[in-house]
Amino acid sequence: MLYLVTSNLNKFNEAKLILEEYRLTLQRLPIEKLEIQADTIQDISEYATKVILEQNKKEILVEDAGLFIDALNGFPGPYSSYIYKTIRCEGILNLLKSETKRTASFKAVLSYGRPKNEVISFLGEIKGQIVYSVRGSGGFGFDPIFKPNGSNKTFAEMSISQKNQFSHRMQALKQFAEWYVQ
Ligand code: IMP
Repeated sequence: MLYLVTSNLNKFNEAKLILEEYRLTLQRLPIEKLEIQADTIQDISEYATKVILEQNKKEILVEDAGLFIDALNGFPGPYSSYIYKTIRCEGILNLLKSETKRTASFKAVLSYGRPKNEVISFLGEIKGQIVYSVRGSGGFGFDPIFKPNGSNKTFAEMSISQKNQFSHRMQALKQFAEWYVQ
């Protein structure tokens, strides 16, 4: 049995739908991952995976994601979770108030581990734009301010399956699934 370790039900629902396409059944291990302060989301994801594996002898997936805004030199990036908790979408829009360069990307690192094995990671990335005001009520986190290239809608204006056609999470999960089922 394959477990996604996440306290975020939205994240789990997105991932479950993607892995179903590969006939993989995903369960949720509803614990908060330990997030170290590090410069890359890969370090955060892999460290958390190792810590969780010590206590849970299961086959697990752990993901760390972040929003990287070009005009802010990649901020909040690995600090996205803390920044979301403290200043939310409105705070990001404020930081970009007089900024016309709106390009940004979402990145996700998905780490796979099982007891007594090396952790292996998969990276997904989607480029897009930070819109000028919050739009939509779906999704979570920074979804209402991020519009992927190739769409007129923000992630929060999309259904889960529409978001899954673009998202960083989808890209990381597909790479994992293709590697896992071979
Ligand atoms: P996490 O630590 O991987 O859960 O993600 C860090 C932060 O990035 C979260 O608090 C979210 O605000 C944001 N984030 C990650 N993935 C997404 C996404 O798919 N949509 C919107 N925000 C996201």
